Amino acid sequence: MFRLSAEQLAMQKMARDFTEKEIIPVAAEYDEQEKFPDAVIRKMWETGLVNFTVPEALGGVGLDTLTSCVLTEELGRGCAGITTVAAANSLALYPILIAGSEEQKKKFIPPITTAGKYAAFCLTEPNAGSDAASVATNAKAVDGGYVLNGSKCFITNGDVADLFVVFATVDKSKGLKGLTAFVVPKSDGVSAGKKEIKLGIRASSTVVVNFDNVFVPAENVLGGEGMGFKVAMQTLDTSRPLIGALSVGVARGAYESAVKYAKERVQFGQPIANFQMIQAMLANMATRIDASRLLVWRAADMVDQKDASFAKESAMAKMYASDVAMDVTTDAVQILGGYGYSREYPVEKYMRDAKIMQIYEGTNQIQRLVIAGNILR
Ligand code: CAA
Repeated sequence: MFRLSAEQLAMQKMARDFTEKEIIPVAAEYDEQEKFPDAVIRKMWETGLVNFTVPEALGGVGLDTLTSCVLTEELGRGCAGITTVAAANSLALYPILIAGSEEQKKKFIPPITTAGKYAAFCLTEPNAGSDAASVATNAKAVDGGYVLNGSKCFITNGDVADLFVVFATVDKSKGLKGLTAFVVPKSDGVSAGKKEIKLGIRASSTVVVNFDNVFVPAENVLGGEGMGFKVAMQTLDTSRPLIGALSVGVARGAYESAVKYAKERVQFGQPIANFQMIQAMLANMATRIDASRLLVWRAADMVDQKDASFAKESAMAKMYASDVAMDVTTDAVQILGGYGYSREYPVEKYMRDAKIMQIYEGTNQIQRLVIAGNILR
C-alpha cells in the first residue's frame, strides 16, 4: 500500500505528462472564460483518463480505486475544474455499478463510456443538500413505470449529460425509505436550467436540471424501490477518496508553486526560502499533503479490498485532504504575497478551486458526522 507498483508508476507518469502538456497550458483560460472543456475531456477520454473505475468490459479503463486516486491527483494538480467534469462522470456511473443488475450495467454504461459521453448524478435539490433524505422530486407510479417531476440543483455536467441518475421519492411520507434511484436517459421533459457562476472549478458546468413529466420504465430502477438512500450513501462512500485525491492534487500544485517562488524571490538581500517563517510554512504544507495522500490511499485500498465498511475512512480522507487543500492553497497565496493574489500566478486559482472540496460530495461537517457516527455506533 505504501509503494506503487511499476505499472501504477507508469500510469502516474502518463497522467503527469498529460497534465503538463494538455491541462496546465489551458487551465487559466478555461477558468477565466468559464468555458466547458469538451476538447480537453475528449483527449483525456482518448488517453484513458476518464471513467477510470468502470470495468473494461463496460467500456471503462478498469482501474482499481487506488490507481484512480493516483491519476486523479495528477489531473487535479493541473485543473480541478476540468478534473471535476471527469470525476462527475464516475460519480454518476457508480450507482449503476454498485446497485445495477448485469443487464442494467450493459444497457446503460457502454453507450456513455465507449462514446465519450457525459453522465450526471442528480441528488441535491434546493431544499435537500446535507439533508439528502428530504428529496422532493416525485416519482409517481404509473402503468409500466414512473413519472418524474421535480428540479435538481448544483448538478455537475447537467447540461451536457446524456444519462442521469436521479434520486426521487415514490412517497414523501416514507422519508428516506421512499427514496428511489432511477436511470434516466436524456429525453423530452429533461432540461437544463440556470447555470451557476462560481468562485472556483469554473471550467466545470454546474446547472439546475428539471424533470417535467418524464416517464421512466420500471426496469430503470436501481436496487429496488425505496433503496435510493442506501444507493446514494454507498456511492458517496466509494467516491469520496477520489475527491480526497483531487484535493491532494490541488494542494500539491499550490505547494510546488510556493516552493519555486520562495527559492526565486529575493527580499532583504536573499531568497525568502532562507527565512524560517517561510520554511515552517513549507514544512507544514509538505507534511500535511503527504498525510492527506496516505489517508486517501488507505481509504481507496479499503474500497478495493471491499472491507466491511469504509464509510469512516472514506469520509476521513475527503475531509482531511480538502481541509488541507484549503489551508495549503491559502498559505501558498500568502507566500507569494501580492503576486499570489494576482491572476498572473496560478495559486489564487488553486485557492478558489480548493473551497468546493470542503463542500461537495458532502460538506466537511457532514463528513465529521459520518466519522463520529461510525466511532460511536
Ligand atoms: N451506506 C449504506 N447505508 C447507509 C449509509 C452508508 N454509508 N449511511 C446511512 N445508511 C443507511 C442507514 O443504515 C439507515 O438505514 P436503516 O434505516 O435501514 O437502518 C439509513 O441509511 C439512515 O441512516 P442515518 O440515520 O445514519 O442517516 P442520517 O439521516 O442520520 O444521516 C447523512 C445521513 C450522513 C447526513 C446523509 O444525509 C449525508 O451523507 N448527507 C450528505 C449528502 C451529500 O453528500 N450530498 C452531496 C451531493 S453529491 C455532490 O455533491 C456531487 C457533485 O456536486 C459533483
